[in-house]
Amino acid sequence: MAVALVGLPGAGKSAVGRRLGARLDLPFIDTDHVIEQRIGCSIRDYFEREGEIAFRDLEQTVIADLAAQPHGVLATGGGAVLREANRKQLRDHFHVIYLRSSPEDLFRRLRHDVKRPLLQVADPLGRLRELHDARDPLYRETAHEVVDTGRPSIAMLVDIIVMQL
Ligand code: S3P
Repeated sequence: MAVALVGLPGAGKSAVGRRLGARLDLPFIDTDHVIEQRIGCSIRDYFEREGEIAFRDLEQTVIADLAAQPHGVLATGGGAVLREANRKQLRDHFHVIYLRSSPEDLFRRLRHDVKRPLLQVADPLGRLRELHDARDPLYRETAHEVVDTGRPSIAMLVDIIVMQL
């Protein structure tokens, strides 16, 4: 079985994905982590050095490689859906779940996070609102199910997803 989680940074893709993998006895794969292994440095450093387009190219290659042998629970980077090729690969080869969160909830979770390059700006909440507006339709287009992350705990989110599989 192959499941992919999409959603904005801070939506809980890694936390939910890890627990979901354990629950389903499937490997958990974090695409950001696979990318970091390939480049040998952090995504943040790579972004700064090479720029966003180079990162997106790499991300597309990694998603295509994973989609060629779909297996496990995949946590994708928040921007993976920006490219049509990725949306198609994910939708065609994985059961895709959109973990939807409000920008306000995301802001509360990410306020002290310095790892996410896209949020190193003067107004991170405004940035999250923009990202949400721009990407929400793309996450919906990619996903087979939408799960709202507002209230449920991680464990409850895993239960909700398992019921939908
Ligand atoms: C990005 C999200 C990050 C990472 C990169 C770009 C984005 O992943 O892929 O910094 O464009 O939203 P997370 O969603 O795991 O933070």
